[in-house]
Amino acid sequence: MPLLAIVYFSISGTTETLAHAVARGADGIAHVALCRITGDDIVSGRFQNESLLNTIDRASAVAFGSPTYMGGAAAQFKAFADASSDRWTQQRWANKFAAGFTTGALAGGDQLHTLTYFSILAAQHGMLWCWIFRAGRIRAAGIGWAANLAWPHTWLAACYPKATSARPNISASDW
Ligand SMILES: Cc1cc2nc3c(=O)[nH]c(=O)nc-3n(C[C@H](O)[C@H](O)[C@H](O)COP(=O)(O)O)c2cc1C
Repeated sequence: MPLLAIVYFSISGTTETLAHAVARGADGIAHVALCRITGDDIVSGRFQNESLLNTIDRASAVAFGSPTYMGGAAAQFKAFADASSDRWTQQRWANKFAAGFTTGALAGGDQLHTLTYFSILAAQHGMLWCWIFRAGRIRAAGIGWAANLAWPHTWLAACYPKATSARPNISASDW
């Protein structure tokens, strides 16, 4: 089976819950490596967890996850992304599948900016971005748009505003 690396940062556990939902979605389809970025990975301002980067080297697909902090990815995730520039120089992650997910406290908390950043990070690495395949599923199910747009509320990637009563339920067919 291919390897899916889920690379995420989370302090209070909301983004980690979403990471586990992504892992459940891959159940039976891929081996999953849950790679949580921690503060200890960052030494003198630089991300230095080579083992985590090596896991991504071996993966066929990567899901990027971070809470939205001040309208973007958390600094800890950005430190990881910056450290991936070594891989970028050799395009070592090119042609891997990529997807992303974020959480935020507010429904209008600018989470889309975080997801857009993940897609640009993937583009820089030459990865193949997987968006949320909602339009097809909504048509196939023959159910209303309003109910289906409640969560996740972007087409680019998964987004979970804490304030909503909806709960993440991601399946592999969503991406
Ligand atoms: C420094 C900081 C900045 C934040 N900025 C935003 C923001 O711009 N938009 C938003 O919706 N939520 C914002 N939040 C809320 C977090 O995104 C939210 O609580 C998130 O789910 C926490 O993730 P975690 O439980 O995985 O640590 C911010 C929280 C912190 C601590």
